Amino acid sequence: SLEKSLRPRYLAQYIGQDKVKQELSIYIEAAKNREEALDHVLLYGPPGLGKTTMAMVIANEMDVQIRSTSGPAIERPGDLVAILNELEPGDVLFIDEIHRLPRVAEETLYSAMEDYYVDIMVGQGPTAHPVHFPLPPFTLVGATTRAGMLSAPLRDRFGIISHMEYYEEEDLREIVLRSADIFQTEIVEEGAIEVARRSRGTPRIANRLLKRIRDFAQVQSDGVINRAMADQALKLLQVDEAGLDYVDQKLLKTMIELYHGGPIGLSTLAVNIGEERETVEDMYEPYLIQKGFIKRTPRGRVATPLAYEHFNYPYQS
Ligand code: ADE
Repeated sequence: SLEKSLRPRYLAQYIGQDKVKQELSIYIEAAKNREEALDHVLLYGPPGLGKTTMAMVIANEMDVQIRSTSGPAIERPGDLVAILNELEPGDVLFIDEIHRLPRVAEETLYSAMEDYYVDIMVGQGPTAHPVHFPLPPFTLVGATTRAGMLSAPLRDRFGIISHMEYYEEEDLREIVLRSADIFQTEIVEEGAIEVARRSRGTPRIANRLLKRIRDFAQVQSDGVINRAMADQALKLLQVDEAGLDYVDQKLLKTMIELYHGGPIGLSTLAVNIGEERETVEDMYEPYLIQKGFIKRTPRGRVATPLAYEHFNYPYQS
């Protein structure tokens, strides 16, 4: 499907994240030369930056199968054993949102990662007994929004820890051009730059906006995406000049209008804008901090002069 082919399959097709790619390409080549499983990899960073895609790329580069699950999908150690049992030597086990793995399942993972076995209790009451399961060598690829959310024992068992960063505008432009090509949509350079500039440094957002702009271009013009068409569609989608979406704008305006710019606690802020605290913490705050609209202080979050200026409010500290 179109959806699937949007994902790059190999490192050479993966745009951006140069530091992560450089490191991984060396570890992958070394592991392949030794005919060993790649060491366990932890990918952390904000949502939408391509952690799942990178896990798939690692499996393709290693020429092995990938099995995917997520932290919340594993409720008991048995759920984990069921998926570990399907692994062939060298395979990748991808666990998305690994910070949400229940504690008991996490503990089962320790010996699996370290020595490729699990001991689990089978049966109940007087017939309960431990069963030893040997496992083939495998690579655990874990994804999480913040490395600090993992327990130290789990984090320490990853030999490779890679931080995914927000994408440069130039890399996003290239991704937008590549996606438009896959969609068989005509886009002019300035159109691609405008989408890249207003996608919060995030390929998932760039690709979603591209699809909507393409709909506008198809219905309201000749189907070609230029800067004006991109701008018109982005306005309707409530993406502002700086690329802030509706929630970003609401968050900053709430801080300024209701709390005199702060300091304000994260939970209070989340309640005020009707979002989960975790959503604000993982999706909204990191970008607004990176762009200098918000600062973290010991007493809470504060809106910066840049935030006031952005909405044409007079700044008083
Ligand atoms: N599509 C989404 N993210 C991508 C990336 N990092 N490289 C190439 N294509 C992509």
